[in-house]
Amino acid sequence: MKTPSAFYQPLAIGAPLPFRELPISLERMIHFVPPHVEKMRAKVPDLINKVDVVLGNLEDAIPADAKTDARNGFIQLAKDNDFGSTGLWTRVNCLNSPWFLDDLLKIVPAVGDKLDVVMLPKVEGPWDVHYLDQLLAQLEAKSGLARPIMIHAILETAEGVKNVEAIAAASPRMHGMSLGPADLAASRGMKTTRVGGGHPDYAVLADPEETGNARTAYQQDLWHYTVGKMVDACLSYGLKPFYGPFGDFSDAQACESQFRNAFLMGCLGAWSLHPTQIDIAKKVFSPDPAEVAFAKKILDAMPDGTGAVMIDGKMQDDATWKQAKVIVDLAELVSSKDSELAEIYGL
Ligand code: GLV
Ligand code: MG
Repeated sequence: MKTPSAFYQPLAIGAPLPFRELPISLERMIHFVPPHVEKMRAKVPDLINKVDVVLGNLEDAIPADAKTDARNGFIQLAKDNDFGSTGLWTRVNCLNSPWFLDDLLKIVPAVGDKLDVVMLPKVEGPWDVHYLDQLLAQLEAKSGLARPIMIHAILETAEGVKNVEAIAAASPRMHGMSLGPADLAASRGMKTTRVGGGHPDYAVLADPEETGNARTAYQQDLWHYTVGKMVDACLSYGLKPFYGPFGDFSDAQACESQFRNAFLMGCLGAWSLHPTQIDIAKKVFSPDPAEVAFAKKILDAMPDGTGAVMIDGKMQDDATWKQAKVIVDLAELVSSKDSELAEIYGL
């Protein structure tokens, strides 16, 4: 473990200072774009106005023979567009792949000044973050970048979940983490073939009834434990937790439900892999107007955040004030980007 003073030193002479606090940004959906497809690149100017983060995907789902085109396509789309307050991220190939090094060596010098976050797949432990951290610092210094590029880890191996706290603590460059349920299922030897979501066989059976009626099976959330572990690791280190992909594009209801569970447990966003998932994420990860109105009532009733009051028959105190503050702060952040919701929230 580094000493506190060394922790915030740049890792290369001439590299920018790491952030002491994460920049405040709205990241309800991280929208995946396959950058080797010209038709998809052409949609980016429109996407910038619709999503909070545009991510150029270089890893899984990009065929091996398209890896170089995807990398070049990402550089092109980064150069061609002005992203304004919309985030620009890339998911690079994993560390042991033949493509990772060139992903970094080509992208950072070309468009590092526009790149907010590198998403690193299959992170197993802090050593993976340390390697990318050092490499980014060297490339930032060489390219004369003024702003540090952040790292977002995908939590998608059994080893990564075991080491989640050490990953969160590995570098001031850490932005946050996403749950990667597909790779995680494979890594853990789970007996599923899905990308996130529930499974009908993962259920608790109700007790038998004397009547002999069929017993109800209550489906459980396969991801509850991991999301909880990730949220605690992230929040205790000041990072942002995210739910990752939901692969069944035909089941909007299940996608919404999975995203909502993650939102209620503390996640700030999810990946959108299909255009229909953009609006689902927007709906779920923007706080509910009725909740915002109630939260505002709490803040108004307790201006200094202490004491106890009753509102609509419910006890409020310092702790519910803090919960209300989380919701109102998020509503304010959403309002800064979304004028329609700003009006609905009355902010
Ligand atoms: C995402 O990368 C996943 O494996 O779920
Ligand atoms: Mg994966």
